Amino acid sequence: MGIPNLQIACDHSDLPSALADISAVGDVVDILEVGTILMLQAGEEAVKCFRALYPDKKIVADTKCADAGGTVAKNCANAGADWMTCICSATIPTMIAAVKEVEEIQVELYGDWTYEHAQQWLDAGISQAIYHQSRDALLAGETWGEKDLTRVKKLIDMGFNVSVTGGLNVETVKLFAGIDVHTFITGRGITGVPDPKQAALDFKAEINRIWG
Ligand code: 5RP
Ligand code: MG
Repeated sequence: MGIPNLQIACDHSDLPSALADISAVGDVVDILEVGTILMLQAGEEAVKCFRALYPDKKIVADTKCADAGGTVAKNCANAGADWMTCICSATIPTMIAAVKEVEEIQVELYGDWTYEHAQQWLDAGISQAIYHQSRDALLAGETWGEKDLTRVKKLIDMGFNVSVTGGLNVETVKLFAGIDVHTFITGRGITGVPDPKQAALDFKAEINRIWG
């Protein structure tokens, strides 16, 4: 079992505040995400700025792409993104078109999906999945629990590299102890606290304590 990565999700509504946070934590985290909210506000420019600041880091464009996968992926790759997300309800041809243009596609698991769908993604050459608790589900009172861990483990057993995300904080990381999580993706747990760098260091320390 490897040591999970830490990915910061920048879901800022404006680029300057995202750049302030990324400059504070970019050296601490493993992967940088231009979050969906920031993609919609300042997508191409945001990816270019992240790439200019961190030429050697993995950068994810969290487009949650549903269609025109090839074009969207090509634009993201040209701006400097390594990986891009597709929503799980996108068609297989959309995902295949996207995967030709970027290094990797990550399937964002929201709403209704089945393990049969998941097998089709694997068959299409996509081996990264992101298991979510959505912001809106969390606001409606959902919490991380055994049902989530069971699904995460099943996806890992199928052969996926599984990232987990949604309202994570340092205390929730230990829920996943013993599971081969690929990446913890954290937005507000880092960007929404007074000292983002310390929060990122605390996440890294907790991940190393459990998996190191
Ligand atoms: C939501 C996302 C977010 O980027 C991800 O879930 C991290 O957000 P947070 O840690 O703030 O909940 O993709 O769709
Ligand atoms: Mg995101």
